[in-house]
Amino acid sequence: MATITSIEDLRVLAKARVPRMFYDYADSGSWTESTYRANESDFQKIKLRQRVAVDMRNRTLAATMVGQPVSMPMALAPTGLTGMQHADGEILAARAANKAGIPFTLSTMSICSLEDIAEATGKPFWFQLYVMRDREFAANLIDRARKAGCSALVLTLDLQILGQRHKDIKNGLSAPPKPTLTNLINLATKWRWCLAMAGTKRRSFGNIVGHAKGVDDMSSLSSWTAEQFDPALNWDDVQWIKDRWGGKLILKGILDAEDAELAVKSGADALIVSNHGGRQLDGAMSSIEALPDIAKAVGDRIEVHMDGGIRTGQDIIKAVALGAKGTYVGRAFLYGLGALGEEGVTMAIEIIRKELDITMALCGLRDIAAVDRNILVGGGPA
Ligand code: FNR
Repeated sequence: MATITSIEDLRVLAKARVPRMFYDYADSGSWTESTYRANESDFQKIKLRQRVAVDMRNRTLAATMVGQPVSMPMALAPTGLTGMQHADGEILAARAANKAGIPFTLSTMSICSLEDIAEATGKPFWFQLYVMRDREFAANLIDRARKAGCSALVLTLDLQILGQRHKDIKNGLSAPPKPTLTNLINLATKWRWCLAMAGTKRRSFGNIVGHAKGVDDMSSLSSWTAEQFDPALNWDDVQWIKDRWGGKLILKGILDAEDAELAVKSGADALIVSNHGGRQLDGAMSSIEALPDIAKAVGDRIEVHMDGGIRTGQDIIKAVALGAKGTYVGRAFLYGLGALGEEGVTMAIEIIRKELDITMALCGLRDIAAVDRNILVGGGPA
């Protein structure tokens, strides 16, 4: 195995080890993928100011996100089907996040359930909620999250209807994979994945099967999920969820200053500037391009977080400079997971941490709390 020094190295290894259907599920965006690509490439347009001969001893990346201490301003984003990138993937990622002192966010569409994570880690984690038409099921999920010890609820607002990813349709994406000839041939080349998967019983949507009415097996599940994302979701529902949850609430998927204003009015604790990693509205702005306007519009009335396209610590420092108090990585940790399981997630986190730390030093700063637009050439984008 070649030496791994970057998230890109982990991506290449994940591509070799994860069945094509699940690798493609992670490494793709909706339709033409223009927003997916812009999320990454727009970071490159922002330039950092190199400062020299500044004392750079005793540096710290410690911060808080919704009042919780984090060892650096980065969390693991909620990602569906993570237990298909690697057997028991959500448990492995949660463990790596705990060790690193950063939050892990479990998706509604995870393979391991809320209860699996609570039992395996014994530590608080965050839970991401998709609001389904079946409100009794949604209410139940909120109660289960509280019982599992979740310390923040991330409510995703940008997926009332699904954006289309061409590859998922062509690959016949399903969990577990359908035994078509193409899938079987591909699986035969992924023996590590198959071996690990044979050793776990978690191969379906753990939060849903056995909990939602009428969903007891895979076939009833696929028809249930296809129908269940609620196109009627609105700001009144946000209030209902906020009241039912009663804890820290983070609204995910804000890309427009008008919506950011509504997020402030809702009384939520934080919003995430996000376009779902370029998986929903193709043609939308990249997250890093949308961030400055939103940060300016809301000021300190609500905590601003962002995700989308982060592959390096340099990306994170740029987001922090433009007003993000916290960031999330999706694919960066998924590549680590697919490549090397828990160890790979730890590698992904530590690669980014080191990049962030050294970059901060080379910008002439010792404390992440002091990072602002001053570290950007010309003060950064308007
Ligand atoms: C996601 N994302 C996501 N978001 C969410 O709220 N619930 C979910 O179940 C999922 N599922 C999901 C699966 C996969 C494979 C990816 C890549 C992403 C979006 C995710 O939380 C986050 O917004 C993006 O991943 C951020 O972009 P990067 O870091 O992947 O570029």
